[in-house]
Amino acid sequence: MEVKETVIRRMTRLAVEHGAVNLSQGFTDEAPVFDMVWGGVSAMLGGTQEGVDRIESMTLREILAARGSGGNSLDLTLKEVVAGIRNPRDQLNQYSFPFGIPELRHAIADYTEDLYGVRPDPEEQITVVLGASEGMAVAFRSLMEPGDGVVVMQPYHELYPSQAAIFGLVPRFVTLREDRDAGTWRLDRDELRAVAADPAVRAFVVNSPQNPTGKVLDRDNLSFIAELCREHDLFAITDEIYEHITFDGHRHWYLAGFDGMAERTLVVNSLSKTGRSTGWRIGWVITPPERTRRLRAVHDNLVVQAPTPLQKGAVDLLRKERGFFEGIAGDYLRKRDLLIEGLRSVGFTATPPEGAYYLFADYRSVPALAAMSPVDAAMHLVKEVGVATVPGDNFYATGNDGDRYLRFAFCRSVETLEAGIERLRARL
Ligand SMILES: Cc1ncc(COP(=O)(O)O)c(C=O)c1O
Repeated sequence: MEVKETVIRRMTRLAVEHGAVNLSQGFTDEAPVFDMVWGGVSAMLGGTQEGVDRIESMTLREILAARGSGGNSLDLTLKEVVAGIRNPRDQLNQYSFPFGIPELRHAIADYTEDLYGVRPDPEEQITVVLGASEGMAVAFRSLMEPGDGVVVMQPYHELYPSQAAIFGLVPRFVTLREDRDAGTWRLDRDELRAVAADPAVRAFVVNSPQNPTGKVLDRDNLSFIAELCREHDLFAITDEIYEHITFDGHRHWYLAGFDGMAERTLVVNSLSKTGRSTGWRIGWVITPPERTRRLRAVHDNLVVQAPTPLQKGAVDLLRKERGFFEGIAGDYLRKRDLLIEGLRSVGFTATPPEGAYYLFADYRSVPALAAMSPVDAAMHLVKEVGVATVPGDNFYATGNDGDRYLRFAFCRSVETLEAGIERLRARL
């Protein structure tokens, strides 16, 4: 398979080209979490742990006194002030331990234990990587060999089949189907059983809360997948980056904590969604200890390490109080409901997502789009209406289930969502 630019990123490019409201790619247009940003900034400026500690406690009076400026100090720019507190010595903008600074690996262990009651060993099990994207890649490469099969649930995040192709893996697809009456998406257990029994298959990719449908796999579904993994000696690679974004009483379950799964689950996670910081590229993988060495070798050889100062910021994010994480979903719930209402008002139908921050909406009942292919519908929206989405067929490899959907991201600010809805109402 030819490796191409992802469709999602192409839609973002088209959005810029056509001045469209960009509801395609999954990133926010709101500020990242402040404590995390400050953690990164103080590391860059402080240079060493002593420097960071010094900056953390410095008052403006001390900064100005150290600068020796006179009465005009109130006219200094922030840049001039900050330049005065830089540390000439440096460690924190340099190469650091390739598997992640120990401080961050300990923070990840504490965070995981606090949320799920299971503590991964920071030395033997946690590797800091460049976002979930690298996390998935090193999991794929270190766990499997060309020709091995990997189970992917469609509709999927295109990362999975694309990376499988890069590493010569063979994706086996199972299909989530929309059950509009029940208001959810369903997995077919017979399909799961059939792929698990394929002797070439080595691993399941489990993404919950799921992109693009918002499906949150419940305990029952995950127990069934765990049972198949144990029965057929398979691994699970869990992509948990939307773990805090669940709605309407749904909750995220930690598959690695299920019976017999600790030794066969690779947990992939990142700051991208939790910190509103998709550009930071900080993530991590939790591996069974005997799988760690190989994964770290792939990681080290490919990218060396994640950015040192941003890892310091990540520590400050993961050490935030529990209430911060519990509060993340509420904001997205309001946005979900705003966008659903807006889309329904112009004819779309959509099962309310149980988690994550995408709406996988059926456009067949929108008169202006009904007869179009998903790509034509998305092109019409981006060029004529001024709203960028992602065509539904991009999320499927087999069958034509995707031919009726467009994906909208509702992680943007309320103003951006309202601007998008207004355009749909006025121009569709
Ligand atoms: C399910 C899923 N996995 C992985 C990623 C990529 O995450 P990261 O930015 O951490 O590489 C995304 C991004 O939208 C996603 O939706």
